[in-house]
Amino acid sequence: MNIADSQTVTAILRRAGYATTDNPGEADVILLNTCAIREHAEARVLGRLSDLARLKSAHPERKLGLLGCMAQHNRAALMRKAPWLDLVAGPDSYRRLPELLGNASFDPAVDVRLDRTETYADVSPEYDNGVRAYVTAMRGCDKFCAFCVVPYVRGRERSVPACDILREVHQLAARGVKEIVLLGQTVNAYRYEQIGFGKLLCMVAAVDGIERIRFTSPHPSDMTPDVIEAMAREPKVQPYLHLPVQSGSDRVLSAMGRGYTTEQYLHTVEYLRSAIPNIAFSTDIIVGFHSEDEHDFAATLGLMRTVGYDSAFMFKYSLREHTRAFKLGDTVSEVEKSRRLAEVIALQETISLERNRALVGHEFPVLVEGPARRGQGMLAGKTPQFKTALFPAVPCIKPGDTVRVRVDSATAHSLTCALV
Ligand code: 5AD
Ligand code: SF4
Repeated sequence: MNIADSQTVTAILRRAGYATTDNPGEADVILLNTCAIREHAEARVLGRLSDLARLKSAHPERKLGLLGCMAQHNRAALMRKAPWLDLVAGPDSYRRLPELLGNASFDPAVDVRLDRTETYADVSPEYDNGVRAYVTAMRGCDKFCAFCVVPYVRGRERSVPACDILREVHQLAARGVKEIVLLGQTVNAYRYEQIGFGKLLCMVAAVDGIERIRFTSPHPSDMTPDVIEAMAREPKVQPYLHLPVQSGSDRVLSAMGRGYTTEQYLHTVEYLRSAIPNIAFSTDIIVGFHSEDEHDFAATLGLMRTVGYDSAFMFKYSLREHTRAFKLGDTVSEVEKSRRLAEVIALQETISLERNRALVGHEFPVLVEGPARRGQGMLAGKTPQFKTALFPAVPCIKPGDTVRVRVDSATAHSLTCALV
């Protein structure tokens, strides 16, 4: 989501006459787009900001700004910790950036007003040249999970008009983009006039040139039959779903205010598996939420085994100011959170490895992305299930092609394949 937002910011600033540079040393303006989801994310930004402060002290005329959720979350503390900032702008203030950057006063220019309607629908983001593009379908969130700062920093849920999404997708297809990832904090809650998310998937699938469609992140409660049926019916919608569960304990899910029980979640998984037999799942898990005991934690491990996730993002609970759970405080110590995190990670590694090894000998169509990060002479791309496939580079194969591969060997994180 931040990559997509940065592309929107780049487009807004280019329209105002700015150009981009890869070299921070020659930039007139440096903007950091930030995340506030966990304390760790904030700590990294503060470290980065103090590095950039050195650049600024050598060249005081350079402007240094902070964008995004962290700007929204804790503006006062931020300006105390980084008084050399020239600009602080929240996620709904990017249209005003050219104006804010022109502000010549000594005080930092600050705009962190949330706007119930801002979707940047008319701003065409400056996409990179990859085969995959992230297209924002909705912004904000109305779910207010007890642990989560998103509704406070990104504001209320609002959907981008379907015609603007389609215009964007058409332009991307014309540029050779093959895969669209529809984005939103609860993307399947999408609704614009009469168009719900299932319908939106079909509309995007009708665009010629687009070969693959994915979306992230759906909320389990909004995984309605019309969305599942659209996924099953539209061959371009890929058989992969990131379905955040957070916990496998009904008591903890209720305290988190997630709006579903494990039974309902597992029912959705079953429905998806029966509609889309080869579907892969990933998830988000939080360990050490307020009052999570050994019994609750064991239930999370149990649910991970039951679903058999292909991969997972796993986090230690991080207390966030403004959220409902903030005033409850922490009941699980840092040491205990670390132990639980290590345990879920180890379990997921085992499950991922098991699932990937079961694919040895199977064939998949892979959308070629480019050279593999590791492995000389290898190319990389994704299978429909969003697994990284590595295969030998052959001169006639280029990014954007789809090749057929057979899996030779597997780790928990990638598949090494031969071309067939
Ligand atoms: N602490 C830890 N993890 C969190 N997430 C959201 N808020 C918190 C928090 N306070 C995780 C959730 C969410 C993912 C994007 O980040 O798992 O799905
Ligand atoms: Fe946060 Fe819950 Fe909204 Fe996801 S659904 S962004 S976890 S409040």
